[in-house]
Amino acid sequence: MEQIVEYFNETTGFTAIPEQEDLLKTLIDDSVEKMLCSAGRGFSKTLCCAIVILWYAEKSLETGVPIKIMMVSPQDTMYEFVNRYISQRPLLKENLIKKGIFTEIPVEGFQLRKAGTEKEIFTEVFTKPATGKVRSHRCDLLILDESADIDREIINSASMCLTGNQPNRIILISTPHKTGFFTTLAINPEKYGYVLKSWSSEVCPWMIKTSERAKTMLSPAEYAIDVLGRPPTKEEETRFSKKHLDQCIKPSISLEGGVNSRIEIGIDWGFSPCKTVLTVIERKVSRVRVLRQKAWHKTPIEEYAEELVALIKSYPDAIIKADSKPPEYPEYLKAHYPNVKIFYLDGLFHKDSELEQLARHVNQHTLEISREQGDLITQLNLYRKGMRTGDLCDSLAIACYEAPNLKKKVVRIVF
Ligand SMILES: Nc1ncnc2c1ncn2[C@@H]1O[C@H](COP(=O)(O)OP(=O)(O)O)[C@@H](O)[C@H]1O
Ligand SMILES: [Mg+2]
Repeated sequence: MEQIVEYFNETTGFTAIPEQEDLLKTLIDDSVEKMLCSAGRGFSKTLCCAIVILWYAEKSLETGVPIKIMMVSPQDTMYEFVNRYISQRPLLKENLIKKGIFTEIPVEGFQLRKAGTEKEIFTEVFTKPATGKVRSHRCDLLILDESADIDREIINSASMCLTGNQPNRIILISTPHKTGFFTTLAINPEKYGYVLKSWSSEVCPWMIKTSERAKTMLSPAEYAIDVLGRPPTKEEETRFSKKHLDQCIKPSISLEGGVNSRIEIGIDWGFSPCKTVLTVIERKVSRVRVLRQKAWHKTPIEEYAEELVALIKSYPDAIIKADSKPPEYPEYLKAHYPNVKIFYLDGLFHKDSELEQLARHVNQHTLEISREQGDLITQLNLYRKGMRTGDLCDSLAIACYEAPNLKKKVVRIVF
């Protein structure tokens, strides 16, 4: 039997790049029973699977050992490739039990006949949609394409379809999603008995333009998923895309008020180069609107504490949150303004969640910033591109933050 890479090149007319060679070899590695392949969009996951299906089918004719292959996919693409490239394989064509193959509309599979017979089925390739019904079919090789779109229950019941005959394999292949069963498997494959391999679409010459565009449009987390073909790291999760940030910028912002309006203030301390920044936001249901930011640069707390407290007091019902560090700031305020109620949050425990929540507001367009808050927008853009957060950004994150323990304390009864 021809080597898989040559088989791919000959059948498709493409020349496989080394990473594709690796995927192809992985797909035919019969020593791995539970295989998880995670790759970026456009890497050629579906195409490689289709070629591998033809390869297995053709090998069965040569070895005389029949095979039953089931493809489960939320889309028709894999079968369209099978349908297109089967015409490039004379041996397969000769042994097809004809049933509408080579028609415009993809049919549901193909069968190969037993040598010397007309109609006796030998090898079978068939598709099934990703529904609970998959469990009523039996196969020796099961491929689930775009499996991040497939529910856990369906993946589990599909894996019950294996006959136990060689190669007795299940292959899950997909671009991951942010969450879901495929992503759970990709984060911890050993726990579920899978072997994971992952490929980035950045290496594909045919994807260069798309990947470059994606870099400017997508958030780091989306880029990790769509292009790098892997679940995002925690760090990438807290970033957002320009597209979403742009949606948060409004011509102007002013206090709306009303029954479900609430003022919240966030303070991040600093001297230089980072400043002390106070941010006032209005929260209305799930929306957060940045009303103003005030900064004090290279000034000791003694000099601006009065101004800061006056500002806080001008919002009598506001919830005030501030970083608990460096400790000299809270200590000074507690000593001189004991009546000002501030919730202090230790960045060590809260910073990640603060930024996660801020990113969620941006991605869901529930944050509103005035176009005039240019410095804040600049900082948000730098953060988005992978830089550290700036003081305006940190202060905003504190202002927006819904701390788990704080919620209980601020519940008020409204008559
Ligand atoms: N070696 C190659 N050289 C050039 N183009 C390729 C090569 N391999 C694949 N392609 C292109 O990439 C596409 C892959 O699409 P597809 O398999 O649907 O990707 P995925 O399922 O990973 O999103 C093919 O249709 C083909 O146009
Ligand atoms: Mg695909």
